[in-house]
Amino acid sequence: MVRTEAPEDAYTAEPFVPGRGGLPALRRAAAECRGCPLHRDATQTVFGAGDEDARVMLVGEQPGDQEDRQGKPFVGPAGRLLDRALEEAGIDPAEAYVTNAVKHFKFTQAEPRKRRIHKAPNLREMTACGPWLAAELAVVEPELIVVLGATAGKALLGSSFRVTQVRGTVLEEEIHGRPERLVPTVHPSSVLRADDREAAYRGLLSDLRVAAQALG
Ligand code: URA
Ligand code: SF4
Repeated sequence: MVRTEAPEDAYTAEPFVPGRGGLPALRRAAAECRGCPLHRDATQTVFGAGDEDARVMLVGEQPGDQEDRQGKPFVGPAGRLLDRALEEAGIDPAEAYVTNAVKHFKFTQAEPRKRRIHKAPNLREMTACGPWLAAELAVVEPELIVVLGATAGKALLGSSFRVTQVRGTVLEEEIHGRPERLVPTVHPSSVLRADDREAAYRGLLSDLRVAAQALG
């Protein structure tokens, strides 16, 4: 049997992750990742952005349509809302490292040239992409991780994570062998979709203020 790609339960970015070289080496290598099938239909890998010495790391789900085109995380509508909320909470977006649990855009499309509709990554894809997030954490060593929504929470804290139960609290957990402090909140896209956007935005802001306070 000829196998062109790893079997499903063996999806992993692991063999593509370099052991050294910091963020530039990670970013270059991630551009060539074939650790799961999501690279096939997406335009490019969207790796994290920000400084190696950032004090806070924000983790989202996966790139959206705009991020996929531009190659940078959180540059679309959700990112604009996030930047506004961060600034209002007293966290300088320019001093944060921003990334996603999954580095390729997953979408469905009714027909070619029709709009691409975001599709949530599954557990296999999240697990496959985990080594990139682990490598980013090991290099940046943030003082605090802001967990944006359920996918990021499950990727970092396991499948029992429930954002409604822990949002706006400071968690201390061991992640990839390192003790981390985390503040979970909702995903900024969920604010854009909420019936009561103002209330949802205030909730996000209040959680981010907890993060700002934890950073001191
Ligand atoms: N949503 C995410 O989770 N990440 C992005 O980069 C953009 C939208
Ligand atoms: Fe690699 Fe992650 Fe992209 Fe899958 S989603 S190909 S594991 S970078």
